Amino acid sequence: MKKLIALLVALMMVLVNVAALAETTTLKAGTSPDFPPFESMDDAGAVVGFDADLAAAIAKIIGVEIVFEPTSFDSIVTGVQTGLYDLGISGFYITEERLANVDFTVPYLEDSQSCIVKVDSAITDNASLMGKKIGSQSGTIGLESAEASTDESNVFPYTKALDAVMDLKGGKLDAVITDTPVAKAILAELNDPTITISTTVSFGVEYYGIALPKGNDELKAKLDEAITTLIADGTIDQLVQKWNIYGTADEAAE
Ligand code: ARG
Repeated sequence: MKKLIALLVALMMVLVNVAALAETTTLKAGTSPDFPPFESMDDAGAVVGFDADLAAAIAKIIGVEIVFEPTSFDSIVTGVQTGLYDLGISGFYITEERLANVDFTVPYLEDSQSCIVKVDSAITDNASLMGKKIGSQSGTIGLESAEASTDESNVFPYTKALDAVMDLKGGKLDAVITDTPVAKAILAELNDPTITISTTVSFGVEYYGIALPKGNDELKAKLDEAITTLIADGTIDQLVQKWNIYGTADEAAE
């Protein structure tokens, strides 16, 4: 009998360990797949884009599986904080404000935001945004930039950047602020000669990182090391090309 109990206890311990392992080998990543070229949903319902490829490359290095859980962008930070997600991979800029609630990996990319306007727009510089109706996605730095650029009653939050651009086309908005790679992708998709990226409105440089729960130093160290490797071995550069993050050579030459 004693032997049997010892055996059962041993078996239980093995099962507990297996469960713990299973838990740590799958990381749930909150994402808002409305943001091509970083993340969007393909016809089969899979999350695709720069961030999806990056996640797959990181997962391979650290020996885990990263599964995407689609949600709205403005709920991801809270989801990471409360443990609903292990990670937030959603074209996140690393900001002081967010760092109060979550940690971030080392940056994996840098860019800045752009302002989409009508081609005949009276918006000629950052100062002329004052009093203009500006739309941006809820919970984004674009929305914060809108708040800093015009008066409160003229700031319009949207579920997706694309919806805001549709309202710009329709004349309900004067400007839309979003990440430059996303602005370029939207313009390329809509192919509408009446809207363009303002060349005279500009915003500061921003860095993309993966959000993770505060204090999970072991996970952060692994992710940081993986990202550093992927920068050094040229994988990130390849993904930049694949997803046309900085625009085509022609666009850059313009
Ligand atoms: N980079 C911007 C930010 O950090 C926008 C990110 C929006 N991401 C998304 N998947 N919709 O606020």
